[in-house]
Amino acid sequence: MKLDGSFTIEKANVKFTQIVRNIMEELNRNKELLTLLADVYTYDDYIFTHSFNVTLYTLAIGMELNINKKNLEALGLGAILHDVGKILVPVDTLRKTGKLTEDEFEQIKKHAEYGFQLIKNVHTVSLLVANCAYQHHERLDGSGYPRGIKGDEIHYFGKIIAVADVFDAATSNRVYRKAMMPHEGLEILYAGAGRKFDNTIIEAFRRAVAIYPNGLFIELNDGRKGVVTAQNEGIGDRPMIRILEVNGEQIVEPYEVNLKKNLHLLIRKCLNIQETA
Ligand SMILES: [Fe+2]
Repeated sequence: MKLDGSFTIEKANVKFTQIVRNIMEELNRNKELLTLLADVYTYDDYIFTHSFNVTLYTLAIGMELNINKKNLEALGLGAILHDVGKILVPVDTLRKTGKLTEDEFEQIKKHAEYGFQLIKNVHTVSLLVANCAYQHHERLDGSGYPRGIKGDEIHYFGKIIAVADVFDAATSNRVYRKAMMPHEGLEILYAGAGRKFDNTIIEAFRRAVAIYPNGLFIELNDGRKGVVTAQNEGIGDRPMIRILEVNGEQIVEPYEVNLKKNLHLLIRKCLNIQETA
């Protein structure tokens, strides 16, 4: 099904792929960076996967905000390397399932500065990339770490990566808790909008990212179940759903419901395929 703006989406996809390719080439050219990333991979595979997800979200936001190609590449590089400092945090602390002691939390907080130092030591890379690692836990109101800097003291790239990072961390399974639903991840961002996170960036995220990707099985708040079939451009959390099941029974003739036009309908749950009749 083609929705309004599908042509723009396709064009954006081409640009997106090109930027990701350029970032990979840059990493490939720069063996020191590649080694850092390989160290992350061997150290903890969650951080590695998380870093890739954050990069994709970050680039989607950056493109939505019309950041130019050269800056997008630096931003993407900053995103992929934002958590490299975690390789210097003891793995037992990183993976601890119980409540962290104050000391352990302090150890984890150090990863931002460690990352800055590790990237800064690679002389061929712009300092801006190192600053992405340094600043991604800073918050607009100064409540972040490591320095507690505020507002404009935080580089725009740091603010973008912060939004991507928080969303992916909330919506991923962690050793200490289950993944939240995508809309719950969005709510965390909205709760901090203007105070912790930049409003414009959250809005760009919501427009650019398919919160519920095509192919995902979901349950609506009226109990109907179905599959996401298409996105409405500019509204990443109100996609098109093909209804497959009503009142617990599979229906003979599936039909489409557009959440953009049915604002009373909400996605209540994301389902495994086995949870459908
Ligand atoms: Fe981090």
